[in-house]
Amino acid sequence: MNIYIDTVSPEQIRTAERRFQLDGVTTNPSIVAETDRRYKNIVETAGEITDGPVFAQVLAESVDGMVREARGYQDWADDVVAKIPATRPGFEALGRLRADGVPAGATVVYTAEQAVLAAKNDATFVAPYVGRIDDSGADGIATTRRIQSIFDAQGFETEVLAASIRNTTQATALYESGIDGITMSPAVLDAHVDSSETAESVAGFAAAWGDQDPPLSE
Ligand code: E4P
Repeated sequence: MNIYIDTVSPEQIRTAERRFQLDGVTTNPSIVAETDRRYKNIVETAGEITDGPVFAQVLAESVDGMVREARGYQDWADDVVAKIPATRPGFEALGRLRADGVPAGATVVYTAEQAVLAAKNDATFVAPYVGRIDDSGADGIATTRRIQSIFDAQGFETEVLAASIRNTTQATALYESGIDGITMSPAVLDAHVDSSETAESVAGFAAAWGDQDPPLSE
């Protein structure tokens, strides 16, 4: 299973890389827009920090524009995967990128049907947006599990990359059901470590040790 971090901040990527074993970095236009940095610089820097892929989303709405951006992103880092929205032009762009051997997958996926067609188009990943699916009134976890189960049954090699994860409960539900990959914000990733009982137990060990010499003192 792959775990990605969804951020454009080099500091957040470095901190997470020091603490956890991460598999790459995802980005999207909304988090890019929160900074003054150019998208190229963001992807280049992320690529220098991570050993895994950097996912960069196309902004164009036309097929030609999506294909041009996805191809152009390939020059920004060694391992860039283009995120193509699961729209009609997006599927057409995916087909052209497949023919050209440009790594690309389907993002903003809301349904199993979109995911199946993306996998048939040799998308490297499909990203169901769990939180946003919930917002739409459907069940994000159930939809994502269904996609994973279809892909497993069909033997699709396309990675199911769960996105728009809002909390650790959603993440754990997906781990349990065998998700291929998941991306989450630094906050949700960091919250995996939270346990007041762990902190209390560590404090208890320190108190029990008392004023004895530290373990490595002479
Ligand atoms: C994934 O690559 C997306 O950037 C991200 O998960 C979107 O999440 P959001 O719904 O919080 O914007």
